[in-house]
Amino acid sequence: MTDRPDPMKGKRRSSQWWGKTDKDGWAHRSWMKNQGFPAHLFDGRPVIGIANTFSEFNPCNAHFRKLAEHVKRGVYEAGGFPVEFPVFSNSESQLRPTAMLYRNLASMDVEEAIRGLPMDGVVLLVGCDKTTPALLMGAASCDLPTICVSGGPMLNGYYKNEKIGSGTHIWKFSEAVRGGQMSIEDFMSAEADNSRSAGHCMTMGTASTMASMAESLGMTLPGNAAIPAVDSRRYVLAHMSGMRAVEMVIEDLRLSKILTKQAFENAIVTNGAIGGSTNAVVHLLAIAGRVGVELDLNDWDRLGRDVPCLLNLMPSGEHLMEDFFYAGGLPAILREIGDFLNKDAVTANGKSIWENVKDAPCWNRDVVFELKKPFKPNGGIAVLRGNLFPDGAVLKPSAASPELMVHRGRAVVFEDIEDYKAKIDDESLDIDETCIMVLKNCGPKGYPGMAEVGNMGLPPKVLRKGITDMIRVSDARMSGTAYGTVILHGAPEAAAGGPLAYVQNGDMIEVDVPNRRLHLDVSDEEMARRRAAGTAFVNPYDRGYSKLYVETVNQADKGADLDFLVGKSGTPVLRESH
Ligand code: FES
Ligand code: MG
Repeated sequence: MTDRPDPMKGKRRSSQWWGKTDKDGWAHRSWMKNQGFPAHLFDGRPVIGIANTFSEFNPCNAHFRKLAEHVKRGVYEAGGFPVEFPVFSNSESQLRPTAMLYRNLASMDVEEAIRGLPMDGVVLLVGCDKTTPALLMGAASCDLPTICVSGGPMLNGYYKNEKIGSGTHIWKFSEAVRGGQMSIEDFMSAEADNSRSAGHCMTMGTASTMASMAESLGMTLPGNAAIPAVDSRRYVLAHMSGMRAVEMVIEDLRLSKILTKQAFENAIVTNGAIGGSTNAVVHLLAIAGRVGVELDLNDWDRLGRDVPCLLNLMPSGEHLMEDFFYAGGLPAILREIGDFLNKDAVTANGKSIWENVKDAPCWNRDVVFELKKPFKPNGGIAVLRGNLFPDGAVLKPSAASPELMVHRGRAVVFEDIEDYKAKIDDESLDIDETCIMVLKNCGPKGYPGMAEVGNMGLPPKVLRKGITDMIRVSDARMSGTAYGTVILHGAPEAAAGGPLAYVQNGDMIEVDVPNRRLHLDVSDEEMARRRAAGTAFVNPYDRGYSKLYVETVNQADKGADLDFLVGKSGTPVLRESH
C-alpha cells in the first residue's frame, strides 16, 4: 500500500459510478462483480484504467497481456483498483493503407473510453509507432493523471553474424536485391533474423523515438524507452508505473501539469540528440494541439538547430536499442544535453527531469557520445520553406548526405505511389543521380493518411553505379527507420491544392538546407496558368471514417489531427446511462 493519506477517498470520479447507493450504483457495481471483484475494491480507492493496445495483428504489442498483469500488480500493491480495457491497436506492419490514417481514430477511441468510464487515473500501454501518439492524444484531451508504459524494443537482429535493424535493413536489403548485390533467397532468409523476440522495432525508428519522446516529455518513469521488451526490468518498470499511477491520482498530478510547453521543448531537443524520427514532428504537434500548448514547426527548427546527435543507433548509426539500454538508456542522453533542457519540467514520478537524470551513468561511449565529442554535428530537424511548400517541409540532416545539402536539380515527377512503382524500374526513365525525385498525392488527404512512402527507392541504373542517395521531395512521411536526403511533410499537400500539385517533369528545384530554403524555379505566372488548367482533388470516399478523415484532417504542419479534435475538453462526469 502507498503510505500517502488519501483525503479524496470515495469523493473522486469513480465514486460517482461505484460510490452510490441508488439503482444506478447498484448496477455499475453488480455487473463488475461478475468478474469476481470483491466488494472492498469499490470502497472509493483510486481506480486506474489500463488502456491496452494488445493485438495479435500488432506484433509489436502482442506481449501486452503480460505487461498489463505487471501494471495491475503495482496498482494493487499501492492500494488502487486496476481495470484493463482494450483500445484500437494500429499496427504499423500490417494495417493498410497506413497505420497513420487510424492514429486519430484510435485517439478518439481512447478519449471517449477514458471520459465515459469510471476511472480516476490512466496507464497507457503503448509500443508500435502510432499507438504512442494516439494514446497520448486521447489522454491529453481528457487530462486525468496519466502515465505511459512502453512495451519495449525487440532484441537486436542478427544476420550472418551482423547486426540488422528493423526497417533499416528492409530498405538496405531491398535496394541490394534491386541493384543485383543480394539474392532473393538471402533476402527471404533474413526475415526471421530481424524479428527474434517480442517488442517493437529496435532501430531508432518511430516506435523507439516515440518511447523516447514519452520519456523526455515526462510521461513515463525514467528509463522507460530502452529496456528490451523481454527483459525482466521492463516488467519491473510496468509494476512501478502501476504503483505510481495510484500516487498520481492521490497527488492530482494531471497530464496538463506534465505536458507543458517546457516539456515539448525538452522532447524536441531530445529528438535531435537521439537522431529521432521525422514522424515525431507531426505527433508532437498533434499532442500539443490536444492539450492546448502552442507549438509549431518553427519551434522544431529553432530548438533543434544547435543540438548534435549523440546516439550511434541505426538508421543514422550502427547500434540498436538493446545496446542503448546496456549503455544507460535515455537518462544517459538527457544528462549529456542538460544545458539544452528545461530542467524544472515535472515528470510522472513527481520529480523534475533533471533530478531524474543528473547522475545517470553511461556505460558505453561508442553508443552514447559525449556532448563535447558528438556522434554527428546536426541532430535536429531542418524546416525548409519556399514557394513549393509555403507552410514548410522537414528534413532530417543526420540521415541525409552532406554533399546534397545545397543542390539544384531537374524534377522527375511521379503523380502518386503507383505511378512511381510503375516507372522506377524502367531503364528508359529519363533520370540520373543529379535529378530530384518528386512524389505527389501522398499527404494526409491524398493517400489518405500520409503514408511512409517519401523515401522512394532509387532507380536501378543509379543504384548500379554504387550511388545510394538522391534528393526526394514529397508530401508524404517516411519510416523512422529510413534514411537519405528526403524532404517530407510538404504543406500544403498536393491534394489540398498546394503548389506541389503543379510541378512538372523538367522543372528545376533548388535545395539549400543551411539557409532552410526549398525553391521551385517556375514563375508565379506559369504556376497560376497551370493551376487554372488543373483539376481539383475530389474526396474518393462517400462513407465511413475515411470520408470524415479526408474532409477534416489538418495539414502536416498542424500535426495532421482532425480539425474538430484540437483543444482539450477534460473529463466531466457524463449523465447516467439508464
Ligand atoms: Fe511496430 Fe515498427 S512495426 S514498431
Ligand atoms: Mg513506420
